[in-house]
Parts: sequence; C-alpha cells; structure tokens
Amino acid sequence: MAKKKSVLDFMEMKAKGEKVTWITAYDYPMASFAETAELDMILVGDSLGMVVMGYQGTVPVTMEDCISHCQSVRRGAPNTFIFGDMPFGSYQISDEDAVRNACRFLKEADMDAVKLEGGRRVASKIKAISDAGILVSGHIGLTPQSSGQQGGFKAQGRDVASARDLIFDAIAIQDAGARFLLLEAVPPELTEFIANFLDIPVYSIGAGAPCDGQLIICGDMLGLFQAFTPKFVKKYANVAEVITNAFKEYVADVKTVNFPEDKHVYHIKDSFDDFQALFAEFDSGYLTEEKLG
Ligand code: KIV
Repeated sequence: MAKKKSVLDFMEMKAKGEKVTWITAYDYPMASFAETAELDMILVGDSLGMVVMGYQGTVPVTMEDCISHCQSVRRGAPNTFIFGDMPFGSYQISDEDAVRNACRFLKEADMDAVKLEGGRRVASKIKAISDAGILVSGHIGLTPQSSGQQGGFKAQGRDVASARDLIFDAIAIQDAGARFLLLEAVPPELTEFIANFLDIPVYSIGAGAPCDGQLIICGDMLGLFQAFTPKFVKKYANVAEVITNAFKEYVADVKTVNFPEDKHVYHIKDSFDDFQALFAEFDSGYLTEEKLG
C-alpha cells in the first residue's frame, strides 16, 4: 500500500517536475477505486451538488452535505491526501466562520486540507485558516460558487486585463498562506506563468498542462454526469451507458423469469417431502392462531 503523501511530498514533486494526479470523489466506492489506482490526491468537491445531488449548481450544498460525503470518502481512502471543499456560505461571512468550518472538516471528517474559491477578496479567510494551522488551497479562474457574477460557467483570464487580475489574486493567495492553488478554465499560457511565478504547487482543471498537476471531476471523466461536458474534460469511460444497459438487462431478465437462476437461490436442507408436509399443515388449516400461541 502506498504511503499517504504530505504537503512536503507535493512541494518536492513540484521541484522535481513530477505531476500530481487529483480527482474528485464523493462516496466510499469511488474513493476506494481512487486509492487503488494510486491517485495522489482526492477532492471531495462541492461539485457533489451537481454530480450526485442533482442540483443545477453548487450554491445549495451545505456544510452537513460536505462533512457527510467527506466522512464516506475518508473511509474509502484512508491513505490518500484528501481536501474538503468549503461550500458556499461557509467562509464568506467572516474569518471566524471560515476557521470554524475549516476546523469541522479536520475534526469531523479527518480531511488533510480544505479548499475555497476566490482571490484577493478571500485572502483574509485564507490567512485565518492557515494561521489556525490548517492546510488550505486557493481556487481561482472559473469559480462555480460565484459563476453568476462570471456570467455562467465561462473560461477566465483570456484577455490581458483579466489575466493581470488573476495573477494578483494568485500572489495574494500565496501571500495569505495557502499551500496549493487550483486554476480552473484559464488559458495554458497564463497557467504556465503562474505556476512558474509561485512557489506553491499550482494545479489545473481545464487550465492546460504546463503546471504541477491535474484535477478532474470523476463524474465527468467516467461519463456519469449527463447534464453537460466541459470542453476540458477527457472521457475515459461511459459508465452511465454501462449502468443503464445493466438495468435494462435486469428488467428483461425479471420479466422473462431468466433471473434468478438456480445458482442464485438457497436450497432446502430437509427433504422436499418434509417441506410438502409443512405446507400441507397450513393448507389444511392445521395451525390455527390459537396453536401458534
Ligand atoms: O467542487 C469541485 O469539484 C471543484 C472543482 C470544480 C474544481 O471545486
């Protein structure tokens, strides 16, 4: 079994140019598959709202939802470095709130780190969490929790003015004490600059290859999430099709009595004659309610 990695391993991997592999998971089975496949990190993303809870976005996801899913994921991947994603409303109101909720991820769900969205405007929250001794990752570019302000799920930093803003955000996040930064849906040219400019590891989801590692959403790469597929996703499987076909086959088997077969049942231990005698007792009304006591 591979040893669980630490922040020091991730710093060393950046120094050596070794890419980090990162995936989202929301439940026990997915987490255990990720650990078996030796992913370096797992994110219990608030994307769980869309991928497994059926919401249109991530805003409705609560702390209770996140903690519960983080607990399942930790049980499935006891030796993997796992981030809990701070949901909308869990850190925006005050630094105190941010620290209180970040602590919950560690105390109640045994997370290794937390992630929150935003640049300079959340720098005080990142600093407060980091000062509390908690590893924290920034997340800028496309930020789903504030996608309303961004006009939807849209790529960011494609012109010089917005790229400059993102560079200032990245610096502020590092200066505030974040130990990782995630860039979402920004051009690779900008990703490469930020990854080289910062000392902390910089990871990409839809931000191209030139950085320290990649994150992908399990529901997207497995073909489980059906609503839409972002341009930056590579589909490695079509699990929705596999599951739907299996369900259809099951329906057909049950209707045509091709399931269950003899190998799927528990056979009687006494003789069939003894069983027939038992059934006859009931058929003849021998066992009355009175006799059963
Ligand atoms: O919740 C999540 O999975 C995320 C990714 C979109 C980066 O934050």
